[in-house]
Formats: sequence, C-alpha cells, structure tokens
Amino acid sequence: MEQHKRSVTCGGLRKSDAGKTVTLNGWVNRRRDHGGIIFINLRDRYGITQTVIDQDAPPELAARAEELRNEYCIAVEGVVRLRPDTMVNPGMDTGEIEVAVKQLVILNRCEVLPFQIDQESSAGEDLRLKYRYLDLRSAGMQRRIRLRSEVAFAVREWMTGRGFYEIETPTFIRSTPEGARDYLVPSRLYPGKFYALPQSPQLYKQLLMASGFDKYFQIARCYRDEDARGDRQPEFTQIDIEMSFVSRDDVLSMTEGLMGHVFRKTLGLELPETFRRLTYEQAMENYGTDKPDLRFDLPLKDFAPYAGAGTFQAFNDALAAGGAVKALVVPGGAGYSRKQIEALEAHAKIYRAKGLAWMKAAGTEAAPVLEGGVSKFFPDTAGDNGPGTGGAGTDNASAAGPAAIARGLGAKPGDLILIVADEKRKTVNTALGALRSRLGKETLPVPDTENGAAKNGRFEFVWIVDFPLFEYNDEQRRWEAAHHMFSYPQEQYHATMEQDPGAVKGDLYDLVLNGCELASGSIRIHDPALQKRVFSIVGIGEEEAEAKFGFLTEAFKYGAPPHGGIAPGLDRLVMLMAGETSIKEVIAFPKNSFAVSPMDDSPGAVEQKQLDELRLAVLRPDGA
Ligand code: AMO
Ligand code: AMP
Repeated sequence: MEQHKRSVTCGGLRKSDAGKTVTLNGWVNRRRDHGGIIFINLRDRYGITQTVIDQDAPPELAARAEELRNEYCIAVEGVVRLRPDTMVNPGMDTGEIEVAVKQLVILNRCEVLPFQIDQESSAGEDLRLKYRYLDLRSAGMQRRIRLRSEVAFAVREWMTGRGFYEIETPTFIRSTPEGARDYLVPSRLYPGKFYALPQSPQLYKQLLMASGFDKYFQIARCYRDEDARGDRQPEFTQIDIEMSFVSRDDVLSMTEGLMGHVFRKTLGLELPETFRRLTYEQAMENYGTDKPDLRFDLPLKDFAPYAGAGTFQAFNDALAAGGAVKALVVPGGAGYSRKQIEALEAHAKIYRAKGLAWMKAAGTEAAPVLEGGVSKFFPDTAGDNGPGTGGAGTDNASAAGPAAIARGLGAKPGDLILIVADEKRKTVNTALGALRSRLGKETLPVPDTENGAAKNGRFEFVWIVDFPLFEYNDEQRRWEAAHHMFSYPQEQYHATMEQDPGAVKGDLYDLVLNGCELASGSIRIHDPALQKRVFSIVGIGEEEAEAKFGFLTEAFKYGAPPHGGIAPGLDRLVMLMAGETSIKEVIAFPKNSFAVSPMDDSPGAVEQKQLDELRLAVLRPDGA
C-alpha cells in the first residue's frame, strides 16, 4: 500500500469492480462489531463504502480495527466482493459491494467529538460554527456546499457563453454612502485615512461600461455593516451584472435565461421562460409587500365598498381620514379559536395595525351569513340574505348586507375574514401582507431537502417593476433613494421630478423568489446633469457630490453609454434552491447572528504595536 494513497473514492465502486484490489482513504463513519466480524463504513465526499474485517483476519488487523472510533482518518487496502443477496443495500450507490480488508492504516486519530456529525440539527448554532470544519463533514453541509459550487459554475458557464467578461473590481475603495454602513480599513501610509470595503461593486461596474466593456459580470464579495438576520450576513456574495445599450426588458430576459440555465444544470428543473411581473403598486395592493410569496394566492381585498354599510367606527374613521380598509379571506379559517385570532392580531400589531377585526362566513354558499367578531355592525338590513338575490348585492355594494359582503370578498362558508383599517394605506397593506405571508406559509408542504435541493418544493419567481425612485424619510424629513442614487427616473417624470419626488417611478426592478428578494437592479443614469438633479433631491449638494462621486460624474462626461444591470444574491439563491431558510447553511464559514465567528473568534483585539502603526487609539475598548 504505497503511501496508502487511494486508488478509488468511497463512492465509486460497483458490482463490476468485484475481484479488484483497491485502496480507499476516508473517515470512519460507523464501526459495527458483530462478534468477530467487523464492519467499517468508510466515508469521503463521494460516498460511503462498507469495508469488512472477516472473522479469519490476522489478529493484528482485527486488533487495529478494534481501535477505530468514529471520524478516525484511515486507509484500507482490500478486495472488492459482492455482498450476499440479503445484505444488498439499494439505498446506497455502493450498496451491492463491500471491500474485504487486507491492510488497515490509521492516518490520524480523532478525539471525542463535540457533537455527532450528521446529527447537525441537534447541535446549537455556535457549537456548529466553532467546529465548522467538523460540521462541514455532515452530509447536509457537503451537499449544500457542492450545490453552491455547481451554481457558481453554471453562472460562469452561462455568462461567458453569452459574451460577458468576468472582471474583478477592488475591495479597498473609497467610502461611499450606499444604504448600509461601510466596513472601514485604516490606511497605515496615510494615518487618519480609511479605505472602505465595497457594499457592492456598483460604481466600478458602471465605470466599466464607460470603458466600453459592454457586458460584465463578477461573482463578487460584498460587505455591509448591518444587523445580521436569517437571510443577511456582513459579508455575502452577489452575481453582479452590468450591460450597455440595453433596456429594462433586456436585463430581465437575460436574468430569466441565467436562472433557467442554473436550475436546469444543477437541479434538473425547467423554469418558465419568462417570469410573472407585478408593478410595485400591484404587489403592495394585492399582497401587501414588495416581495410576495406566490406559492400561494391569498390576495388582499378591498373592504372600503362595504364599510359604509356598517357602523364599525374604526372602519369609517379610517376612510374619512383618507385611509383604507382591506380584508384577507382565510379559507377554512372559521375554525380558528379566539386564541389563534388573538395571536394573529398581535402579529398584525407588530406591523403597526391598530387592531384586527374579524368575522366568520357561515350559512350556505347560496345564502351566506356572517358571524362573530364585528359582524354585529353589519346587520342584514337590506334583506339580501337569501337565495334568489344572486350577485346583485355585490354590484350595489353600498347597500351591502352580509351576503353581499361574503360574495364580494369571495368568502365561502367556513372561511375567516380578517380586516384592518387605518388612515395610512401602507399600514393596512403591510399588516395584512404580514398575516397573508404567515398564514400562507402554513399551507405549504414541507420541502424535501434529501437530495440537497427542495425537489418537491415549488419555485415561484416574480419580477417587481416600477418602484418609486424616492422614499420620504419621516425621521430625517428628507427624500432618499429607494434603491440607490444611480437609478434612472422614468422619462415621463423628468420634467416634474423636483416638484413631486414621491410620484417619480424609476426603471428599477427586483426579482423575488418564494417571498425572498433575490435580486435588485436598475437602468442607470448616464447623463451627468440628470445625476446631479437626483443628488440634489436626496440632499447631496454639488460640493458633496463632487467629493464623493466626482469620479463617476466626471467619467460620464466622456461619452458614457446608456447602461443597466442587476445583482442576484448568490447566498440567497443557493439557500432557496437547497430548501433552507438561513444563508448560513450555504456558506462554508459564516458569522453568527452577532457578526462573530466562534471558530477563529473574530473580530478580535489587535496588538498595541499594530494600532500604533496605524496611529489609532481605541477609546473605551469595553464599548461602554
Ligand atoms: P442590493 O443592495 O439590493 O443591490 O443587493 C442585491 C442582492 O444582494 C443580496 N443581498 C444580501 N445577501 C446576503 N446578505 C446581505 N447582507 C445582503 N444584502 C443584499 C440580495 C439582494 O437582492 N448594486 C446593487 C445592484 C444593482 O443595482 O445592480 C445592489 O447591491 O439578494
Ligand atoms: P375596540 O373597539 O378597540 O375594542 O376593538 C374591537 C375590535 O376591533 C378588536 O378586535 C380590535 O382589534 C378591532 N379593531 C380596532 N381598531 C381596528 C382597526 N383600525 N382595524 C381593524 N380592526 C380594528
């Protein structure tokens, strides 16, 4: 067994290999001692092979096998043989054979494990991250990291196949405001000055268009100092893309092609050629969010036409104040207990709803009635509550009785109607949208992640387009860019942009997958004068603009082409493809929820000498 080097992997042997002498390297996945005959399941990233030390093996071989514990790294040489019929394991790629061991070498021993590998879920997150190198040995992590590699490869394959260049951009850049806080890198050569780590390659990819590179992409590391959540990390990866001489639809169809290729190549799934599109306004009105999960429908319905027929004060007050009253019909929700409804109300209140009104639809489909909750404020005065009145009441909504309300909302007997009223339309939409998303998720089948992907899970892509370009910041009393400051205001708003910033729609788009914002992008401004006007609306004066983005506006003076792009988050894409809910599950070495790596204990203190070189002093190192 020269150098004990493997001749095959632990996933490679089949029936046709019977009789061959082979060497395997790997980890002891499990050792079973059947009184004299010892089975060792040997594992590497390619699979598991059953190796056997027979009863008549030389005593020193048996003794060495006795010594083995889980996760010992070993080499074995032996002869491939067919398993007896009764021992064949159809669930294993190598299930028809086993290797009769002739020699066994322990390459390295393993101490008592901090947790059992392959029982990843039972170990706490910080323990998993502290021993990430062990956690990564688990079948689930191995599958997901492999999927990530395959996705990245498929991206490169598709992009380069279509003439895109992969170009690296710097990670030490000038600090520029882009939404989140920058991570800063102090400069030793220029004390008191700092580089920033890029929140995205945004400015550089636009400059590459000015340089004539036409079609650019990069699998780019991005850094943002913001609070970590399930789908956010301080450092993450974007599939960053930019193109010249394109319209919005060119960018959308390029992205559809890319997603189609990635899903076909890695999961063997065919996506639709084009994805659905909703305007921002449609998404907010129908689903109460700009990232609707369309694996379920459950649309929000307007309750305003029926509110006037009743005497429920909160509804009429909201409408009188120019607000909205909207409803969500929960199929079969009439069985909800008071406690369940209270939990929903508490959830709606997180999103600033003042309350949650409800009614239950009962009776029959021909003669629906409303019961419980606020139904007493909607009495059957119009007498529409019987067969024969048909849908007439729906049209004449102001005279709406319970039957007309139920029909108008599409509520069937046994359904629950949830209603929110507020003087702010956005509050109504957002609160009901949050309920919709919570209730809808409960109706979804549990994804099968066995094969490293949500194979039986559905993937519902949707484009959200026509976002507002500016958002008003109530606290700071100023307009700010809804996405970033380089997005193109749609032509029809150019003349009146300053008068009514809130009405301006941008050529902005998001790609949403199963309720998660997967990608964002826009057509950019390439006209320096228009860029200045946008800066000025968000309160960046000429001097500040010059200091912060002078190089960009300067570049645009030299014949910069019209251009646009997009950036899908690679971590989120792989997370959704793997059927996971946290991007940590698809990143080899992520930070925990407190932006800490428990394994190498970063961020860590540095030596005084290093600080001196940088001419930095740390005030109150305890953070007090
Ligand atoms: P945006 O800021 O929307 O756009 O980011 C694009 C995509 O990157 C992913 N993403 C994240 N993933 C993990 N952790 C984070 N903290 C995180 N932040 C963002 C999301 C998101 O949709 N320069 C623009 C793109 C452009 O206009 O071309 C940008 O960065 O999937
Ligand atoms: P109250 O009259 O405040 O006791 O509220 C009676 C019911 O109406 C409770 O179930 C409240 O949650 C609900 N409610 C109160 N205000 C609103 C509102 N703005 N929109 C929807 N329901 C409300």
